[in-house]
Amino acid sequence: MRFEIVTLFPELFEALEHGLLGKARDAGRIDVHTITPRRFTADKHRTVDDAPYGGGSGMVLMPGPVAEALDFLDEQRGGRITRRVLLTPQGERFTQAHARRYAELDSLTLVCGRYEGFDERIRGLVDEEVSLGDFVLLGGEVAALAILEATARLLPGVLGNEQSAADESHAAGLLEYPQYTRPEEFRGEKVPEVLRSGNHAAIARWRRKESLRRTLERRPDLLEAADLTDEDRQLLDEIKGT
Ligand SMILES: C[S@@+](CC[C@H](N)C(=O)[O-])C[C@H]1O[C@@H](n2cnc3c(N)ncnc32)[C@H](O)[C@@H]1O
Repeated sequence: MRFEIVTLFPELFEALEHGLLGKARDAGRIDVHTITPRRFTADKHRTVDDAPYGGGSGMVLMPGPVAEALDFLDEQRGGRITRRVLLTPQGERFTQAHARRYAELDSLTLVCGRYEGFDERIRGLVDEEVSLGDFVLLGGEVAALAILEATARLLPGVLGNEQSAADESHAAGLLEYPQYTRPEEFRGEKVPEVLRSGNHAAIARWRRKESLRRTLERRPDLLEAADLTDEDRQLLDEIKGT
């Protein structure tokens, strides 16, 4: 899958050279292209921002260099279709469902804002607006990295073990069950007996129950939307002691 990032700080994406995403790049499973709007400026200082009309604090990212960066990417990509996503705290909150949807695409273009924000007309250049959460970052780069990572790890061959992505938190609308590794006992706390039993059916039941318990305790909002079986409901009754 191709990832394109419009950013004033391409060097921040060097982080993608490491770990599993670095391997995925080397293996050609993902392809990351960064482009800076500064490349599409004509003045000596490579200016991409200006003061806001109407006054006020901070500088605003100008639409021209961003539009030209997007045009350049379109040309570079040839006939391949992309989806343009603008990073903004005013966008729809990013979730695993977005990552799943993006992982089906051939190409994803992430547009990072900076400074006090971007000219309103940049909104007209993108397909959707996404926020990492209800907080304000200095720029869209950290959000773009998070979105890229959440998406890329769902692509075939990136994790190495496809089951990990299927079992984990949010994959099926629930939080993941507790995980343990060696040692069997750590500072007085033992690994639950059932996980050492070798009884696969009992382990699966325990994990499902703990996943339901954890979701009920920490994110009851997720439980309301989850697709639960009759057995899940029975397990929930057991957890609630009803
Ligand atoms: C300082 S912020 C500007 C915030 C803007 N003044 C506002 O109130 O909406 C600069 C840039 O960081 C990025 N950014 C900040 N918070 C973000 C978030 N929660 N999710 C995604 N991008 C964010 C956006 O690209 C934004 O244009």
